[in-house]
Amino acid sequence: MEKLQKALEKARGQRGGTKAPDLRSHSKQSHLRGKTANAAVKAPLSLWDDLTPYEPNPDLLLRNRILTLNSEAEANPFDVLRTKVFLLMQENGWTRLAITSPNKDCGKTTTACNLAIGFSRQRENRTMLFDFDLRSPAVADMLGRKPNHGIKAMLTGDVPPKDQMLCLRGNVALSLGNMAISDPTQLLLSKHTADMLDKVQADFAPDLMIFDLPSMFAADDARAFLKNADCALILARAEHTTMAQLDTCERQVAEYTNVLGIVLNSCRHADVEGTYFGSK
Ligand SMILES: Nc1ncnc2c1ncn2[C@@H]1O[C@H](COP(=O)(O)OP(=O)(O)OP(=O)(O)O)[C@@H](O)[C@H]1O
Ligand SMILES: [Mg+2]
Repeated sequence: MEKLQKALEKARGQRGGTKAPDLRSHSKQSHLRGKTANAAVKAPLSLWDDLTPYEPNPDLLLRNRILTLNSEAEANPFDVLRTKVFLLMQENGWTRLAITSPNKDCGKTTTACNLAIGFSRQRENRTMLFDFDLRSPAVADMLGRKPNHGIKAMLTGDVPPKDQMLCLRGNVALSLGNMAISDPTQLLLSKHTADMLDKVQADFAPDLMIFDLPSMFAADDARAFLKNADCALILARAEHTTMAQLDTCERQVAEYTNVLGIVLNSCRHADVEGTYFGSK
């Protein structure tokens, strides 16, 4: 991670770019967007109580590498990430976190689910997880529960949010897709979608909203949505993402929102020297 950070700093220096906050040190960013600063007043509990409960199947979650349902040792890396993300966002007054990556299969959905499920163990916080990979929604399969209504129905106003979202342990709302949408860019770009998210945020007053996005290079969907997020976490996968891809992705994400940090997934060794990074 140290080497990855250094390599990125070097790349940023060469192109004169901005510095992402360091997830390890909770450094502060000055360019607060502020437009979605956290609501100070909690939503009435009844709104959350109206959501359909989601009963997790622990075995299925484990098979899908969702490790944060309980406070076990294997949850630790995601719990550390959860706390770092939360503290950094709180420090900046941010509520909306987008998760993206340069290329596919970096572990975005796995990470988004682990963060959201992990937040359900923090009883005082309320979190929402949105599957905004509208072309290939995967969260429902990963959590083993298809919603009756898809996320598009909620965004277009056809179905009220309380009838679309599921709820884990009373404090994590799950807005999941139930079918692929073929050309979602317009929906992601639309003012109606932005207004709907503002309304959901105002009504439910979550402490954190997590958006599982597609990869940046897959299509223009992630790019279309990022302006709605306060910050983004970029996933890279060892032996799968190249340094050049990561650098390009970071630059592109930074055009639309704050880069909260970069997570290197699937790294088997503490020392990443000799792996795929920087070698292509
Ligand atoms: N650290 C890991 N070790 C092993 N397998 C992993 C790890 N992280 C994720 N995976 C697996 O890799 C596959 C892709 O993960 P995931 O769906 O989370 O990636 P993604 O970035 O969301 O993919 P997509 O770009 O298709 O949305 C899944 O089968 C997942 O279980
Ligand atoms: Mg995914």
